[in-house]
Amino acid sequence: MRRMKETSQQAIGIFDSGVGGLTVLKAIRERLPSERLIYLGDTARLPYGTKSPASIARYAEQATRLLNDRQIKLLVIACNTASAVALSSLQKAMAPLPVIGVVEPGAAAATRARPGGRHLVLATEATVRLGAYRRAIQAADPGAEVRELACELLVALAEEGWTSGSIAEDIIGRYLEMAFEDGYRTDSVILGCTHFPLLRESIRGCLAADVGLVDSATTTASVVSDSLTERGLLNTDGHGELKFLATDGVTRFARVGGRFLGAPLTADDVELVDI
Ligand code: DGL
Repeated sequence: MRRMKETSQQAIGIFDSGVGGLTVLKAIRERLPSERLIYLGDTARLPYGTKSPASIARYAEQATRLLNDRQIKLLVIACNTASAVALSSLQKAMAPLPVIGVVEPGAAAATRARPGGRHLVLATEATVRLGAYRRAIQAADPGAEVRELACELLVALAEEGWTSGSIAEDIIGRYLEMAFEDGYRTDSVILGCTHFPLLRESIRGCLAADVGLVDSATTTASVVSDSLTERGLLNTDGHGELKFLATDGVTRFARVGGRFLGAPLTADDVELVDI
């Protein structure tokens, strides 16, 4: 894909299968408040986590093409599943546009916090099947032990807003029982899915106090900041405009997305796009 030379005034493009990546947008916004951000939620094809790698790769490429047409200066794949499947192919296809995923930053945060430690990754089926976190963690810290667990129901719980109370705790408890039934003891739990930060408090409540909880949003924001700084593309005097795009259901995107963003959204804030 051919591109013009980037300038600092251009937007950062961010995409996810739906609203979950808004947790990453929020962290980027906190870190870089002057930047223009364009967020695309591919809600028409959500969830990615249960799809085949071939479909996920195709969706990720189409989302990337749409954002690239909007003249972005950097792309964030704010979806663990799409990062697991498509990061390296998109990095190659889009070069020299920087493309940043969320798996490596999450793995880096976990290994920094617990060097040589044991980790439990909670993620979607596709992310677990591809072993993306295992590879990233062991590349950063060969002495680390990793267990990965697919927790598809947690995606639905976060979307429904059932993030606390007995139903959330029962379901989280059941997943953790599966992870630990053979006596595996973990030093950290990695929230390897964009939806899981919303369940943070409930997950915390099911773990021993000395187990660390890691999510990739803040670390990803640091990686974005470093990458823009390195390229001289940091926007320090912009107004921080936000633009939201969705491939389906702008009303639902606004309603559910507001929870992920931590700020109210209306359907008028969201543009319906076709990819
Ligand atoms: N955004 C996805 C992820 O982080 C979760 C939702 C989905 O399965 O599409 O893996």
